[in-house]
Amino acid sequence: MKRLNALIVIAFAIGMVFTSCSEKKTTKKVVGVAMPTQSSERWINDGANMKSQLEAKGYAVELQYAEDDVQLQVSQIENLIAKEVNCLVVAAIDSTALINVLAEAKEKGIPVIAYDRLLMDTDAVSYYATFDNKGVGTAIAKYIEEEKKLSTAKAEGRSYTIEFFMGSPDDNNALFLYNGVMEVLKQYLDNGVLICKTGRTSFDKTCILRWSQETAQQWCENYLSGFYADEKLDIACSAFDGFAYGIRSACESAGYKVGVDWPLITGQDAELMATKNIISGYQTMSIYKDTRLLASKCVTMVEALFTGSIPEINDTKQYNNGKLIVPSYLCTPVAVDLKNYEQIIIDGGYYTKEQLGL
Ligand code: BGC
Repeated sequence: MKRLNALIVIAFAIGMVFTSCSEKKTTKKVVGVAMPTQSSERWINDGANMKSQLEAKGYAVELQYAEDDVQLQVSQIENLIAKEVNCLVVAAIDSTALINVLAEAKEKGIPVIAYDRLLMDTDAVSYYATFDNKGVGTAIAKYIEEEKKLSTAKAEGRSYTIEFFMGSPDDNNALFLYNGVMEVLKQYLDNGVLICKTGRTSFDKTCILRWSQETAQQWCENYLSGFYADEKLDIACSAFDGFAYGIRSACESAGYKVGVDWPLITGQDAELMATKNIISGYQTMSIYKDTRLLASKCVTMVEALFTGSIPEINDTKQYNNGKLIVPSYLCTPVAVDLKNYEQIIIDGGYYTKEQLGL
């Protein structure tokens, strides 16, 4: 009898452990994270950082990548809603394609945070965590201005050829970046210090759908063969490291040589390959965006939504999505080149010397 009692007690205790485990499981909040693509390194890092930082706070994470397929992203978000996640973090492929699915989230009481790219034409978004996107553009352009000493060029009779490779028209960030670039460079296009031989300087003529590296390469090849047979291209103002890789290939095929006539090529994201290209001279600069910092700001927004508190916000003016001005946190982008990459990238713990092959 005593043994039977003891067995009953043990069975009860085991039962309690299982119940409390399953209770814990059901009470753990789940965050659905929808990322655009794994084709560029930055988004892989963003997804990994979000997952690890949210898990460290005790949340469960459902991480999805839609490989730049708009419909796939819609259905991934639909699935996350069906699974009744507690919060959605979305980096959109096409910022205006998610209106219906986000309305569905709102109806189900699931709050939404826009990650890096603003969600347009929807009132379902609570917060926006991003980098200062116009600041990315001004940083790229100021780099060009300083490197080429554009402010004194007119008086000294200098001029430079330039071509523009801007971001995807369905990504709100791309126009912000373009506006930042032109805020600095337009005066030099107007006074003849910068010469764009293709004449393609407007956003409409320079934006590249889905940030395609292949398109950037194709365009650059066409520009070099069609417009730069006699005079060299001096500056490729590129909005993305992926474009810079395509431009590099086009320049190599056209016979440009590093240290001889290689153009100034800009980029964005400070991807590993871009940083290696900066070291070897194939890319001049990039914009370092610490995705660990961005993820941490986004995680504070998730926590605020769960606890009903107000997260840290530093912009309540710039990001009007057509329905509301979305309260935003803008991280600061930093220009990196050969002069400062060790301090910013290596000392900052973003990549190790080994990763960079040093
Ligand atoms: C991001 C950039 C990135 C680009 C292409 C933009 O929305 O802000 O950091 O380079 O997408 O992936």
